[in-house]
Amino acid sequence: MINTENKSYLELCTEFYDNDKPFANEQEVDFYGQFFTKDELLLEPMCGSGRLLIPLIKEGYIVHGLDNSPYMLVNCHDRLRQQNLQTEIFEQSITNINLAQKYDGIIIPFGSFQLLYPRSVAFDTLKKLYQHLKPSGRIVLDMFIPWEAMYLGGEDQTSEKSTVLPSGDVIVHQSHSKANKLEQYYSSHDIYEKIVNGKVSLREEETMHLCWYFIYEFELLLEKVGFKNIKRINKVINQEELMVYVAVKP
Ligand SMILES: C[S@@+](CC[C@H](N)C(=O)[O-])C[C@H]1O[C@@H](n2cnc3c(N)ncnc32)[C@H](O)[C@@H]1O
Repeated sequence: MINTENKSYLELCTEFYDNDKPFANEQEVDFYGQFFTKDELLLEPMCGSGRLLIPLIKEGYIVHGLDNSPYMLVNCHDRLRQQNLQTEIFEQSITNINLAQKYDGIIIPFGSFQLLYPRSVAFDTLKKLYQHLKPSGRIVLDMFIPWEAMYLGGEDQTSEKSTVLPSGDVIVHQSHSKANKLEQYYSSHDIYEKIVNGKVSLREEETMHLCWYFIYEFELLLEKVGFKNIKRINKVINQEELMVYVAVKP
């Protein structure tokens, strides 16, 4: 039975996501892999359908996953099975993360941490992630700044994208977002429609927030939680300018 409490990463969003961005490429896998050895225990919270998790496991890393979207997790399990791979996948919210074991590394790619809203929740979650690391454990987490949201004068931003599925059906994604520049987040209302033979066969609406953090601000947050040796790498991954933070639990 699929839990329908979540307001994002529902069925059509998941189908869109996996068709649009199936798996991380070698460059991205090598980039995240370089921070760890293959005998360390890693966790990718917000792993979704395994876009990065699965290629990392194929490369020989030991990675557990966690996500709260049942749709993303069904696809993750299917894609692991198709490749004869196995790992632990936890269905829970990162905001209440409570796992029995501690990890040598935590990886959160693709700006996913920015989905945690409001900021107090994001900060509390960072503290919980710290608790889930072993001493000398590292967190590697990336972020982007939605510069386009900042140049607007308060008006809504709209966008439309579509993806053609192998069946020839199309999923159209319309997004309407409004930025609160002072508080550094935007709220978006997303509509996904599946078009089969020219007609809408399924429609879903989602809502989400995305926060952004400037570089010194996020370094201070990591420091406040107790992380040391905080480093930032500016890197373009998937055509997105990212700030990748690497920090160590002493
Ligand atoms: C942008 S996707 C990234 C998925 C994957 N890490 C990747 O690189 O493709 C964000 C993921 O975060 C998950 N997510 C959002 N809020 C979450 C929460 N509170 N707890 C756990 N997962 C969450 C979504 O379900 C989705 O799978």
